[in-house]
Amino acid sequence: MPEPQTVHCDMQRFMSGFTDVSHIGSTGDGGVNRPFGSEADLQLRAWLTRRMKDAGLQVTVDAIGNLWGMKAGSDPGPAIVLGSHHDSVPFGGRFDGPLGVLAALEVIQTLQETGYRNRRPLGVVSFTAEEPNPFDISTMGSRTVAGRLTTEQLLAAHDGTGRPLELAIAQAGGDLRRLSGVRKTDRDLFAFLELHIEQGRRLESAGMSAGVVTGVCGIYRELVSVAGEANHAGTTRLTDRRDALLAGAELALGVERLLLDRLSRRSRAANNREENAPAAIFRDNPEEELIATVGRFAITPNAPNIIPGQCDFTVEIRGASSSAIHSFAAEFGALAKQIGAARGVQISRKVILDQAPEAMDDTVTDTLRSAAAALRIPCRDLFSMAGHDAAHIASFTKAGMLFVPSIDGKSHCKEEETRMDDISHALAILLETTRRLDGLDIDA
Ligand code: GLV
Ligand code: MN
Ligand code: MN
Repeated sequence: MPEPQTVHCDMQRFMSGFTDVSHIGSTGDGGVNRPFGSEADLQLRAWLTRRMKDAGLQVTVDAIGNLWGMKAGSDPGPAIVLGSHHDSVPFGGRFDGPLGVLAALEVIQTLQETGYRNRRPLGVVSFTAEEPNPFDISTMGSRTVAGRLTTEQLLAAHDGTGRPLELAIAQAGGDLRRLSGVRKTDRDLFAFLELHIEQGRRLESAGMSAGVVTGVCGIYRELVSVAGEANHAGTTRLTDRRDALLAGAELALGVERLLLDRLSRRSRAANNREENAPAAIFRDNPEEELIATVGRFAITPNAPNIIPGQCDFTVEIRGASSSAIHSFAAEFGALAKQIGAARGVQISRKVILDQAPEAMDDTVTDTLRSAAAALRIPCRDLFSMAGHDAAHIASFTKAGMLFVPSIDGKSHCKEEETRMDDISHALAILLETTRRLDGLDIDA
């Protein structure tokens, strides 16, 4: 195994950049609100562009708004690109996304400053709209790069106010009419590396600084629309009501009941041993499980003296296998039929995402593991139940991810936090992995 070079990233520079970025879209309570298309999204794009240029990178914005900063190598040919995304969920945390983009910048800048002569082109990317957003298209930038979204789909997208996606993309420097140039293949990218927070508790529980991701879960989302009947809240008898909220609420609770039923079936199969009680399976082995969430829920007209006539919500299902995800969606569909009939409401369902699980590349994961071992940084393998841009890039080239622990497993909330010591270890692994991948003599 080659010896690692004793090269250290500049943690002071990294932390100063991270502090600047955390102020952009700051909610003032430790969190950030930086959804795609917001003023904060645009401000951070400008900040990243400046920093990439200062680092001597050649900056381009592609037609979907992805921000690329590239450095030529001594050989032309496919590049090694590191990065993540810079948008956040509504009222999210500071680390989800920007950590990977800033880590990419720091690794490439450190390599340059220490005189490293890269053979392959090296680059940083910050993908557009990784998180769910008002246009209902998440991982938008990486999916477009992977050829998984069509121009028609993108041109048809609007937010709830009727604002076309095309306008939001134009404001980000892109152009939905020029999408043909966005698509990349393994002739453009030799490998993609993404550093991200774990967003769970497994690394923290294991006392490890880093985790090598073996695969990313499949994600399925649907919009459910319940049409009941709005009517007077005082004068309408209970038996005459067709309350859309109550049907929606029953369905949301039904999702939890279906999950609990699955867990107890698993737990019975594990001989009802105490340590395999449903809660324990669920907490410790999310990768073996399937999970579902009703995360957005709205009623109309939403007034104290009107029986809700309309209820719209999302159901999201995630798992390590598409067949398990689809079988849960079918169970949910049966429940929707049953509740719709019992309550006299119309329930319609529209699938807005059906993304298969994706394995990370063996060459990249092996290189991450061997780099960590050479640096004597303990790490373990993990399957990700969070979605990531790397899952889409993995569909056409070698992709890998490194996780750092999330304190108390908190994420998608203002309490999201990771220790700088862990980040420093991860940067060392990332830098060493980049060097090793650059030295590999295999074709893309
Ligand atoms: C991305 O943050 C996800 O939804 O997992
Ligand atoms: Mn996220
Ligand atoms: Mn993320």
